[in-house]
Amino acid sequence: MNAPSKIPLEQLKRSRIGVLMGGLSSEREVSLRTGAAVAKALREGGYTVVELDVGKDVATRLTAEKIDVAFIALHGRYGEDGSIQGLLESLFIPYTGSGVLASAVGMEKVFTKQVFVAHGLPTPPSKAYATAAQALASPPDFPLPWVVKPSREGSSVGIHICKTKDAYAPAVEDAAKYAGLILVEQFIKGREVQGAVLDDEALGVIEIVPAREFYDYQAKYGAGSGTQYLFPAPIPPEAYEKVNQVCLAAHRALGCSGASRSDVILAPDGQVYLLELNTLPGMTATSLLPKIAQGRGISFLNLCERLLEGASLKS
Ligand SMILES: Nc1ncnc2c1ncn2[C@@H]1O[C@H](COP(=O)(O)OP(=O)(O)O)[C@@H](O)[C@H]1O
Ligand SMILES: [Mg+2]
Repeated sequence: MNAPSKIPLEQLKRSRIGVLMGGLSSEREVSLRTGAAVAKALREGGYTVVELDVGKDVATRLTAEKIDVAFIALHGRYGEDGSIQGLLESLFIPYTGSGVLASAVGMEKVFTKQVFVAHGLPTPPSKAYATAAQALASPPDFPLPWVVKPSREGSSVGIHICKTKDAYAPAVEDAAKYAGLILVEQFIKGREVQGAVLDDEALGVIEIVPAREFYDYQAKYGAGSGTQYLFPAPIPPEAYEKVNQVCLAAHRALGCSGASRSDVILAPDGQVYLLELNTLPGMTATSLLPKIAQGRGISFLNLCERLLEGASLKS
């Protein structure tokens, strides 16, 4: 994709920057923390910031507050799925991060995997089902364990690892409670890493070492979960480079802009498997993108500025 030209920082310093946060999704609390961290950093950097807790009146408020540029600090449904991006396009307000299409595809794990496969990118074997009945009638033919997940959730919500066929039916019934399709993937045993991309450049790889069976909701957000984050990931240099390259290729395959963070499993044989791509990585003080950026000498304010400079209309 042709990158649109950057907005000069001097111009941004004269602009009214709307930090869009909160929102209506189940990830509201994380978004409020992301928004607060971004707004504080930008204010300290000398920018004029308006914090907007996004509700049904967001269109009116964007206009009333005379927002010139939108910094999207939302997560999940309505914020990460192309909805708010479409609204900003319609109001001609340039915004940070990915456009409507990349956001919508990135929010849907089945569609994301179809794009990965079409681009020859490695991802675990999988099967998708529209209903629980279909999933039970024709289970996958790849070997156990299986990972059953709802296609549109995040934060490991509704995810089950089935080591036996007996565990399959309850997992499928639970995943079917959520919106979207039911995705069943082969479980890949390996080390869990994430790669970040900023402005079409691979930034680096962080390793996640959960103290629990996998990187579930508790391991992600639970106080004292014992999850460790190691940057740079202490993996062999060839593997590090491979993860960087695969994450950059995934970012490009979906047509992302700004920043993205991809989840990857590194198998003992050196093979890497993409699980998913996040188009709106968290930006709280403890989030992984700021950690990776920091490790590369990019301060939190600098990261916010890089995202703002890249704000644009993409339709
Ligand atoms: N195919 C898989 N093999 C091994 N672990 C997996 C697999 N799929 C998911 N997991 C585990 O579940 C976690 C959440 O899955 P992911 O697909 O990233 O969904 P979410 O959007 O909820 O983060 C991963 O971080 C990983 O720990
Ligand atoms: Mg994930």
